[in-house]
Amino acid sequence: MEIGRNYVNFISVLVSLLLWGCWGSNLEDFLHCISSNSSNSTLLYTQSSSSYSSVLNFTIRNLRFSGPNVPKPIAIIKPSQPSQVQAAVICCNNHDLRIRVRSGGHDFEGLSYVANVTFVVIDLVNLNSVTVDIENNTAWVQSGATQGEVYYKLGLKSSAFGFPGGVQPTVGIGGFLSGGGYGMMVRKYGLGADNVVDALLVDANGRLLDRDSMGEDLFWAIRGGGGGSFGIVLAWKLKLVPVPPTVTSFAAYRSLDQNATDLVHRWQFVAPVIDERLFIGVIVSGLILILFFFRGGGRRTKGAFFYSLFLGKAEELIPIMEKSFPELGLKKADCLETNWVESTAYPASGFVTANDLNVLLDRDPLSSGRFKTKSDYITEPISEAALDGIWERLDADGIETVQLVLIPYGGKMNEIAETELPSPHRDGYPIKIGYYVTWESPEADMRHLEWSREVYEYMAPFVSKSPRAAYVNYRDLDIGTNNEDGTPTSFEEASVWGLKYFGVNFERLVRVKTMVDPCNLFRHQQSIPPMAQPKING
Ligand code: FDA
Repeated sequence: MEIGRNYVNFISVLVSLLLWGCWGSNLEDFLHCISSNSSNSTLLYTQSSSSYSSVLNFTIRNLRFSGPNVPKPIAIIKPSQPSQVQAAVICCNNHDLRIRVRSGGHDFEGLSYVANVTFVVIDLVNLNSVTVDIENNTAWVQSGATQGEVYYKLGLKSSAFGFPGGVQPTVGIGGFLSGGGYGMMVRKYGLGADNVVDALLVDANGRLLDRDSMGEDLFWAIRGGGGGSFGIVLAWKLKLVPVPPTVTSFAAYRSLDQNATDLVHRWQFVAPVIDERLFIGVIVSGLILILFFFRGGGRRTKGAFFYSLFLGKAEELIPIMEKSFPELGLKKADCLETNWVESTAYPASGFVTANDLNVLLDRDPLSSGRFKTKSDYITEPISEAALDGIWERLDADGIETVQLVLIPYGGKMNEIAETELPSPHRDGYPIKIGYYVTWESPEADMRHLEWSREVYEYMAPFVSKSPRAAYVNYRDLDIGTNNEDGTPTSFEEASVWGLKYFGVNFERLVRVKTMVDPCNLFRHQQSIPPMAQPKING
């Protein structure tokens, strides 16, 4: 249902809304507010719209947050103009409706489309333009664009520049950059957010601000302080990074029988310190290696999957590997040479081919399952005995698919100060771990959630401490939350999870939040809390 300025259907819609319950009259006022505040027609879906469910489900990635028992928004707004986002913010504020902003919908805890209070989803899926300025090595990218769309459009303009975005093409730029964002060029160019030079944001007052008008504190906070706290970022100006004409990818699977334990153990000493043009990630997996992160088939086994991108030719890569990681036994025949944009299609195709760039534009979910994710950072290499304990847990009874994704940092990450952006885990945090467990049936929820908590507990002695650090883009409500309605608990309680995600930067994030959104319009269970509610009349 489209509700525009010439409301042909508007009256009948309102009448039907009035009939369906207690929210009717408030919803009527809200819809009226939207229409009188936006200059163009706004796509707006209510629960009585025939396409409401398909619009809501379009980018839901975790089926744990789908289904009849999950709270639904009273309306979904799909703006195509900044003014419509401004109107939506003003009207949600006026009508005391919580906002959930969604770009790509990959939030691990569903925070972009679920709330426990009456709420509206502002879905940026139609704000997805990518405008590349090759002469100045920059691109303006709207938040609703996927990473795949960005790579694809960069590739159309030039093979000399890339962007250090993530591995999975369907992830939205909006959420990715809001949480920092790592990818396969993280060791050479840092996080995605390290390469953002301007942004357009709608603040809690509905104002449209750029870097100059928002000021450096807010511009700092939105590049890694986590989505849904400071406003709605409509677009990001990216600094493109140089890439060589030929890059090299490889993917190598080693089962337990092929010394996977020794290889993963050795990898920890190599991957974070090797040539910074080389990224070698590892997926440690039990049962079916479905490559949840990527597309592709499965393998019923326990083992380690090494996947890599090298910014150079295979003939340069092989001597580096022979010197630093001969145990893997990499041969030139195992390598795939392409240009950079093709290399982004290779993992997207499940490491099958780099020839089909269309895979970058495919927004279909890779997994229709339910999942839970947690994160950690390894500061000292884990012993082989400790790795054995991980393998044991990977085939626990009744647990479907498990993957531990190990990401090497080092390189450029060590050169960027922990306070440069809200993402503090750089020097001293050489390896990030993501724990993923996926399953099919709602009846298996509890078993898998408990499994993830048990593994997390097992890992405690082997990972960072005081605080035990976590990655905000791997949202995990187990580590602490605000109240259900997003209002802050106490600063001390918020610090428990805040310090894990943001370390020394948490306090500055709270100060920025207090300055730009003191009434806490943008809030969810893990949004940055303001210091205190402002006093009326000073
Ligand atoms: P979504 O739309 O759900 O938003 C995530 C959060 O940001 C929500 O709180 C939302 O409200 C907020 N938000 C979204 N758009 C916003 C905007 N425009 N302004 C303000 N707030 C906004 N991460 C990584 O760093 N590297 C990787 O390689 C991967 N790979 C990966 C693969 C898969 C399969 C998944 C499911 C996830 C990842 N991630 C990842 C994690 C990913 O970066 C993280 O979930 C992002 O927040 C997802 O961004 P989306 O826009 O897709 O999510």
